[in-house]
Amino acid sequence: MTGKAGKDTVDTVDTARIDQLPPPLPAERIIALNQPKADLHTTRRYTWRGWEFTAPPGVFLPGGTSRMIHERVLDGTIEVRDRVYAAMGCGLGVEAVAAGVRGAREIYAIDVHPDSVEATRRHYERIAGPRQGTRFVPVVADLFDGFPDGVRLDVVTFNPPAVSQPVSDDPDVVRNVCAGAPLLERFFAQLAGRDLLAPGGEVFVIVSNTADLRTIVRDAAGHGFTTEVAHCHDWQDGVLTYLFRLRREAA
Ligand SMILES: C[S@@+](CC[C@H](N)C(=O)[O-])C[C@H]1O[C@@H](n2cnc3c(N)ncnc32)[C@H](O)[C@@H]1O
Repeated sequence: MTGKAGKDTVDTVDTARIDQLPPPLPAERIIALNQPKADLHTTRRYTWRGWEFTAPPGVFLPGGTSRMIHERVLDGTIEVRDRVYAAMGCGLGVEAVAAGVRGAREIYAIDVHPDSVEATRRHYERIAGPRQGTRFVPVVADLFDGFPDGVRLDVVTFNPPAVSQPVSDDPDVVRNVCAGAPLLERFFAQLAGRDLLAPGGEVFVIVSNTADLRTIVRDAAGHGFTTEVAHCHDWQDGVLTYLFRLRREAA
């Protein structure tokens, strides 16, 4: 189950196998790997697939882990076409744009950071633009706290700030990088407690061994989710990134 790089596979992490997930890397290695960039409080540029994005101060600039989600939303490996999709922690808005181009029915672009939601709205309107059969809904919310009632989601993605060590006191860095496993516990609790998933709904969470993978999967199980490893990427520097697919069929 662990450390398998390559094409997308599905491997269930039942509770008996949680301990086969790697433990967090040593604290000093995690801190060294996640040193905040000096330019976070400046305006930056980002280009992907020929699309140009402008990141205002404090907005997360996508990296390789982000692109593991963005590519799959665009190519349908994470299928959003004709589905109700929530991009949790949408940041710059790349996955929301990709979902619009792919043909999602509804796109809820959620972030706790108003400037990220505004950047996403601007990018969506400029790059994806109005599309018949697709509704784009920007939402400023603390996870689903502030998300409208009555919406049931077919697919959710989240590249969370799950790093398990505090790498900075800067609140923008903490929000983007190192809120840790408790944030995901709250995310699972809200999804389950408010019954936010439609039948067959899927949640994709991407996390590495700079986070506490075992606690995250155990917390998800505690809220009735089964977890599969949809993909594992080995960056060849000790970091293993897991794309988890979670479902809650019992609900
Ligand atoms: C690692 S960044 C990912 C951004 C983007 N999805 C990507 O992959 O490039 C994490 C994002 O989660 C957002 N976030 C952090 N805490 C949140 C919360 N409680 N509710 C909603 N969004 C949150 C941050 O503002 C940030 O945009």
